[in-house]
Amino acid sequence: MPGRDAYQQPAAKFARGVYHARNRRLAELVAAGGPRRIFEFAAGSYDLARLILDRDPAIETYRWSDFAPRCIAESRKILAGYPACTLEELDIDADYAAVDWSAYDTVICVSLEHLARDREILEAIAPQTRVFLSLPRFGAPTHLRWFNGELQIRRRYAELIAIDRIEQIRGGGLRKFLVVAHRP
Ligand SMILES: C[S@@+](CC[C@H](N)C(=O)[O-])C[C@H]1O[C@@H](n2cnc3c(N)ncnc32)[C@H](O)[C@@H]1O
Repeated sequence: MPGRDAYQQPAAKFARGVYHARNRRLAELVAAGGPRRIFEFAAGSYDLARLILDRDPAIETYRWSDFAPRCIAESRKILAGYPACTLEELDIDADYAAVDWSAYDTVICVSLEHLARDREILEAIAPQTRVFLSLPRFGAPTHLRWFNGELQIRRRYAELIAIDRIEQIRGGGLRKFLVVAHRP
């Protein structure tokens, strides 16, 4: 399984192209739920947090986390101007059971394909929490899994989260699925 050292990319890499297009759409979908307390793990970049926080000054808490030092340092510089946002080093695979999931109305992850405990983590999310995921339609050296279509996504996750909609975003020859769901 890839450790921290496998993630040396600049956070800005995931703030452009298909990632930015995905983030813009995700920010719209998240805003529609009227979030107040958000938890994002394995964030990969500052981009989505910034888009969400720029849209909605009523957000009280945005807990941003990742486990890669470079990603955290670069994101910290960009997100420093947002008082609602706290940034944290967190290995979510190792420490998901220590998270107080009941503190959030919205949980976001755009990197679930990198996490070995994806199903256990989704199961830990508190009932009624809104859940927003992005999943790839392409493989990469640090992807533990990827998805050919909606059916595969539903087979892996539908017993853990109630899936309300799935959309696709394309760009630069890459395709991402956006999953809007909630914990029953
Ligand atoms: C390479 S980025 C990919 C970007 C993301 N998939 C997207 O679509 O924007 C994946 C991120 O997941 C983080 N990550 C991987 N495993 C993690 C873990 N166990 N705990 C926390 N973050 C993790 C990495 O540090 C990295 O920043």
